[in-house]
Amino acid sequence: MLAIIGGSGLAQLPVLDVTHRQVVRTPYGDPSCALTFGKLSGQNVVFIARHGYGHSLAPHEINYRANLWALHNQGAKGVIAIGTVGGIRPDMSPGRLVVPHDIIDYSSGRKHTFFEGPERPVVHAEFTSPYDADLRRRLREAIQNSGISGVHDGVYACTQGPRLESAAEILKLERDGADIVGMTGMPEAALARELELPYAHLCLVSNWAAGKGHQRKVEFDPAVAAKSVQDMMNTLQSLFSN
Ligand code: HPA
Repeated sequence: MLAIIGGSGLAQLPVLDVTHRQVVRTPYGDPSCALTFGKLSGQNVVFIARHGYGHSLAPHEINYRANLWALHNQGAKGVIAIGTVGGIRPDMSPGRLVVPHDIIDYSSGRKHTFFEGPERPVVHAEFTSPYDADLRRRLREAIQNSGISGVHDGVYACTQGPRLESAAEILKLERDGADIVGMTGMPEAALARELELPYAHLCLVSNWAAGKGHQRKVEFDPAVAAKSVQDMMNTLQSLFSN
């Protein structure tokens, strides 16, 4: 069974045939909301809305440890994480789906490891390649099979938020090698690695990052968003039907 973590604008998964919901308690506190179990293209899936049902949790308020622990505890064998991002690289235009291959973490002050406290061993999780190669390949194929023009490589920068970035901050991220920017990719990916859960990220570019795309400020276009959510659903259906 794979888990899907839904991001902004995806508090529910319209393509999921829901069988039941379950509240899960964890040693790390409560997850963002109850887990939803169901079938997608005939396969078992467990879903959680990262920001909670009513989008009540900001990126820095999400209990990433509880979410990952709950999914793992309920038998998830891998995670497809969905998130919206700002586009930095010129081909990362609004409406694109991106499957990033690497991460730079600029977030701070978040609970970012399971390995802390006197009872836990000191563990240095391997993180050279943060995303699972097989899940990434399956996502790329699903995008292609759905006839969508996707971008299949990119470096994801995770900022702390909840505010958006300044234009100078985006230039710094670009110089660092970042192609897209979001606020929730970390510590999620690292926690999945600590649990040895294969993890891949399906990102939807919702806007040009600050100072990019010849716009004076960051703008979200609802028409682009609706089309990309449909692309996302088609991709997920294709992913699970293979
Ligand atoms: N910056 C950070 N996070 C985001 C953005 C952005 O421009 N768009 C969507 N998530």
